[in-house]
Amino acid sequence: MAFSAWQRRDSRKKSGPAADKKTKENGRFMDRSESGEKPRNKQERIDVIPDYDYLFTESTNKKGKKKNGFFGKIVKMNFCPLFFSSLLYVLQAAPVWLMPVLTADIIDAVTMAAGGQVAVSQAVKTISIDAVILALSILQNEPTTLFRVTIMSKMLRSTSAGIKSCVVRKLQSLSITYAKDMETGRIQSKFLKDTDSVDSLFSCLAQTIIPNVISALISAAIALSKNGIVALFFLCVVPLNVILSRLFSKRIRSENRAFRLRTESMSGRLTTMLEMMTVTKAHGLEQTEIAAVNKSISGVADAGLKIDKTYARFGSWAWCLNTFLSGACVVFCAVLALKGKISVGDIVLYQSMFVSISGYVMALVNLLPSLSTGFEALDSVAEIMNAKDVEMNIGKREVPSIRGDVEFDHVFYKYPDGERYIVRDLSLSVKAGECIAVVGASGSGKSTIMNLIIGFLTPVSGRILIDGKPLDEFNLSQYRHHISVVPQNSILFAGTVRENITYGLTRYSEEDLQKAVKIADLEEVLKDLPNGIDTDIGEHGDKLSGGQKQRITIARALIRNPEILIFDEATSALDNVSEYHVQKAISACIKGRTTFIVAHRLSTIRDADRILVMENGACVESGTYEELMEKKGKFYELKSLNDINTKIAEEALS
Ligand SMILES: Nc1ncnc2c1ncn2[C@@H]1O[C@H](COP(=O)(O)OP(=O)(O)OP(=O)(O)O)[C@@H](O)[C@H]1O
Ligand SMILES: [Mg+2]
Repeated sequence: MAFSAWQRRDSRKKSGPAADKKTKENGRFMDRSESGEKPRNKQERIDVIPDYDYLFTESTNKKGKKKNGFFGKIVKMNFCPLFFSSLLYVLQAAPVWLMPVLTADIIDAVTMAAGGQVAVSQAVKTISIDAVILALSILQNEPTTLFRVTIMSKMLRSTSAGIKSCVVRKLQSLSITYAKDMETGRIQSKFLKDTDSVDSLFSCLAQTIIPNVISALISAAIALSKNGIVALFFLCVVPLNVILSRLFSKRIRSENRAFRLRTESMSGRLTTMLEMMTVTKAHGLEQTEIAAVNKSISGVADAGLKIDKTYARFGSWAWCLNTFLSGACVVFCAVLALKGKISVGDIVLYQSMFVSISGYVMALVNLLPSLSTGFEALDSVAEIMNAKDVEMNIGKREVPSIRGDVEFDHVFYKYPDGERYIVRDLSLSVKAGECIAVVGASGSGKSTIMNLIIGFLTPVSGRILIDGKPLDEFNLSQYRHHISVVPQNSILFAGTVRENITYGLTRYSEEDLQKAVKIADLEEVLKDLPNGIDTDIGEHGDKLSGGQKQRITIARALIRNPEILIFDEATSALDNVSEYHVQKAISACIKGRTTFIVAHRLSTIRDADRILVMENGACVESGTYEELMEKKGKFYELKSLNDINTKIAEEALS
């Protein structure tokens, strides 16, 4: 297959059935986000997963106060389902309130019939009516419960999906520097554990708080309609329980926070342990790792024990308070009955009402720990949602195509946590189609320059211009559709070779895939794999050698047919033979597009149009290979050193 087939102009012409299967614009394949093709499950996604991003944003903008604004807004948004399910709850739980009223009615009818105050037939009639009312109220429970749970479940499931989805969208919108600083384990903990706790918070609200408040209000209303003095006694339950909750809430909140932070830290530690597994085993450091992770585990256990003790103390105090009040209620009602202010049947009525009211209040009070965990989790999710380091692309300049001119105009860059400038006063003008090689000692800033071109990093001062327009005005996500990067470390995922090469592309032709495979010198590798290109390569491509992985990332870059190609030490992991083939491939496929090549082995950049020599972030020399060799300056020095090292390495290997 001729390399020229890879040049942009040629690849735009599509013919044959393969071409019908793909969509190509401006010489490149389209991926899911830009093809304009409707996502298969669009309807479902909009219906099932609500977009909650703006709720988080509003929460922070309005008062500058982040806490729980989101919670209130979600409650407001779901007012209708909450309201209807509450009404249904009243209906569903009707037997609970009717039972004491009907019981008191029956006892009174029996005592009055026994005392001869009413006829027996009248008492039987009253008992029959009460029995029918009770039976009907019990029978409606099943359909009403089902209806209520359906409404609630829909609301809770979509809220849960909405929160998880907006966390994912936020993570994807964060800048690469923020993403690099994030600890995977911590984020996983936030995504899985904390979003679940937030779900529980809403489920608590819907399934426990609202029903219990309604139940307590109805019971209190019945008591009030019967006897004002007893109702006043009932009302004492609320302030006493509120005071008790206030006494404990601060402590519970702070212990919950400590527990959450320790859990996140343990999760982060575990991820590090898994990532370091090979190194740990290679150095026989298993026991050291076990000890380190155990320390995190016991930290979580300690925090958990502390919080459990506080919960237990709080629960016990709440129980004592309410049981004491319940006993006091019996005595109070008995005194009223002795004075003839209430009937004997009413003692039973008030006592069972009091028990249910204090039961509801206790249920609410006992929710304090779960509520506290839920609000803490909400704060944790808000930490991600309110992160400011976001790559803003909305409203930025659309980038349907680019030519490939790249210009650095007095660019300075230093990392946010660094003290010195990593790129210093770099000015460079690259015409579309030119090939620029960047060389220099390790740490001289080569990868940083590449990241500036990709838009991962923004200059501290100076400008980067693409086709004469400032890069910071571009929609970077669209801009990057015109770039392909072969990074220093190959990044592969668990899946087949085919999936790794065509990552993110919805359509591609088999012909183009084969071209990419051939150019990246992967054919020999694929022959040895059990299922060829459809072989699963394991997590991070662990079943392949470093060189093989690198060639897959090269094929991934090539199949996208980009206008700007970046090779950051792309051939560093290849053996001499593979390097020769890939180098030949790179030389062919770079024709017609702007290319930046970072290389340690200086012999590989002989054909570059220009070579930049970097030293401590500054460009100290530039020119063609011949010019620089003739000049006998920095590049000549580097090259001589490089040759000696290569020779030593080759001798050591032979
Ligand atoms: N995220 C970061 N935060 C702070 N400093 C960083 C970061 N990344 C790189 N640096 C520093 O910037 C300097 C240049 O790094 P860079 O990766 O650009 O070097 P390089 O020339 O590509 O080196 P190599 O040839 O080893 O790949 C180094 O001193 C490095 O420590
Ligand atoms: Mg580098």
